[in-house]
Amino acid sequence: MAHDPNISPLRLAVFVGSHGRGSNLFAIHDAINAGTLPAQIVCVVGSRADAPAIVRARNAGLVTKIVSPKDRTDPEYAAVLLRVLRGHDADSVALAGYMRRLPEAVVAAFPNRVVNIHPSLLPAFGGHGMYGEKVHQAVMDSGVKVSGCTVHFVDENFDTGAIISQTVVDVLEGDTAQTLAARVLECEHRAFAEALTALARGQLRVVGRRVVRTLLPSV
Ligand code: GAR
Repeated sequence: MAHDPNISPLRLAVFVGSHGRGSNLFAIHDAINAGTLPAQIVCVVGSRADAPAIVRARNAGLVTKIVSPKDRTDPEYAAVLLRVLRGHDADSVALAGYMRRLPEAVVAAFPNRVVNIHPSLLPAFGGHGMYGEKVHQAVMDSGVKVSGCTVHFVDENFDTGAIISQTVVDVLEGDTAQTLAARVLECEHRAFAEALTALARGQLRVVGRRVVRTLLPSV
């Protein structure tokens, strides 16, 4: 599918984690290549050059930047991130497996332009220390019958920003944290690309805590 010429593609920076596989990054990349997501990945930011997601990104020819928070104060870390984002003329940020709290200065510089994916139905199983497999283990331990993923705008706290979309996944008898994680991950890939597409099309409006979807402007 060709991009709508009336939509200016997102200039997207994707932040990845040091242990993530980069599957969400590549779901975004694939949606762009398929012509469904009007965006360009202007840089992939990670904290370690040998992180699997960074290695995959580099091998795919994407621009990668290594910015480590180690030995930096929060304002120093924020300043370097902002320099990288501005240096690549990014207008939006996708957190794809990024496990830290994004410095406030970065969130403030991109109001309602930073989007995170989390592998549970927030506000349940979110917050500091709740990431990756820990989330799915906590879901299994709690006995809840449904889980899923949440795509949300990022604010200055962990996992508390306005929710763009949620996808529900049944917890099945016989599930383990790993089998549940695999089914949730499939939903994440679709949900992330879909939410970013809505952002690119200018369809997301934040009203208080609520994200309201507007119809596509008629052309
Ligand atoms: C994904 O499941 C994502 O939802 C999760 O990390 C994984 C990264 O996988 N993020 C969080 O837990 C954030 N709190 P990926 O590297 O294959 O995209």
